[in-house]
Amino acid sequence: MNYKNSLTNPIFGVISKSAEELGYDCYVVGGFVRDLILNLGAKKDIDIVAVGSGIELAKRVSKNLPNNPNVQIFKTYGTAMIKFEGVDLEFVGARKESYSEDSRNPSVEDGTLEEDQNRRDFTINAMAISLNIASYGQILDPFDGIKDLKLKCIKTPLDPTITYSDDPLRMLRAIRFASQLDFSIETNSLKAIKNQSKRVQIITNERINIELQKILKCKKPSIGFLLLEKTGLLDYILPELAALKGVDEVEGQKHKDNFYHTLEVLDNISKHTENVWLRWAALLHDIGKAPTKKFSKKVGWTFHGHELEGSKMVYHLFKRLKMPLNEKMKYVQKLIFMSSRPIVIAQENITDSAVRRLVFDAGEQIQDLMTLCEADITTKNKYKFNKYHNNFKLVREKIVEVEERDRVRHFQPPISGKIIMEAFGLGPSKKIGIIKEYIKESILEGIIPNDSEKAFELMLKKGTELGLTIANEK
Ligand code: CTP
Repeated sequence: MNYKNSLTNPIFGVISKSAEELGYDCYVVGGFVRDLILNLGAKKDIDIVAVGSGIELAKRVSKNLPNNPNVQIFKTYGTAMIKFEGVDLEFVGARKESYSEDSRNPSVEDGTLEEDQNRRDFTINAMAISLNIASYGQILDPFDGIKDLKLKCIKTPLDPTITYSDDPLRMLRAIRFASQLDFSIETNSLKAIKNQSKRVQIITNERINIELQKILKCKKPSIGFLLLEKTGLLDYILPELAALKGVDEVEGQKHKDNFYHTLEVLDNISKHTENVWLRWAALLHDIGKAPTKKFSKKVGWTFHGHELEGSKMVYHLFKRLKMPLNEKMKYVQKLIFMSSRPIVIAQENITDSAVRRLVFDAGEQIQDLMTLCEADITTKNKYKFNKYHNNFKLVREKIVEVEERDRVRHFQPPISGKIIMEAFGLGPSKKIGIIKEYIKESILEGIIPNDSEKAFELMLKKGTELGLTIANEK
């Protein structure tokens, strides 16, 4: 098979010519080839292997390109990178590598293309397409990667024990690719991952997080998380989630398995949002259930306060995985903290004031919170399923009504402290806060609309009750 016509980007011609000038053989390898054969469109990260110096080839390519783009050189790794017209080109010399027990960083020697292909992670990532003039576009597929693409199989070129032990990050990559491509992991590979899952601990948390984010962005992220659980990796990388596994039974009373429930919620939400932080919220929404779980004879299993506990745990989890401790984290925490609020409202008679308070507390996140709560309905009882969904529909309708009328999402007090001070001829005082809170509560309860005239009347009434005298009556 020749892929000449698939190499549509003119950059390949420039690379080919540059390699020819240097007397090197060179190939495009890895993910670009994989995605090309899978018809996933042209990947923007292109890996080029030179049988010679990758750095020299990159320099020559830059010289032959218009405007001579900058070549970023990573001397220690013997690699170089060029960013050109929206693609990232990475150049490396063909090499063989050997790894030590306690590190992912290999010692490297120059090698042939075959040796380079041997050291790669999966058969589907070990294919190369020639950029040499005489064989331009020809594929070199020593491990039948094309066959594994057809079989939808993740398999290592060498003995999987060696491939994963060389670089344990590949255990996560195997699972991530299985999840992204909806492939299965070959049995021996899966066994090897299971056997050495604890080696995941030598991987930096940043790398782990990158793979987790990629799994979370998949169409059906549960594929990845189920594999992480099955291989034992989850215990090391997300113990909070692993702790949700299992069903306890006391006196004939069971609770649901919160791990599998969580994965259902995650898949549900992934059908409705691409927002990876909302997906994180779905993944972590029940983590507080493990530490708060209790059984009492009277009420059975309870998880009191799991929302607060879970939102606190998010901080430690984000910190450990080197995730941003910024507004993204606060967003996830807030959604988890509020994750039971809509269901409580939807179970009862849905009142305006309850919805107004919900919108007030959720603010900007109200729609995402509703999406999370809808995804959280995993009951297999059709009657209950429809009932909850219908109730949430009503809550959503009421949110729109309440929003139009009372504008509580970005609540601004209709009466400022300054107006109160002027009305009663007061200096700064605790009573101002009391009046403001009273007005806010009255609006949320629906006693008065969010309207400055009505709020002013209420202010006068409350102030008088507090023993204040209206300024112009003094
Ligand atoms: N590779 C490897 N072992 C790793 C990482 C990468 O053998 N731990 C090899 C694979 O051949 C891979 C190539 O290096 O195809 C490029 O790696 P990378 O850019 O990380 O992945 P891609 O396969 O291009 O796919 P993606 O961008 O989706 O991660």
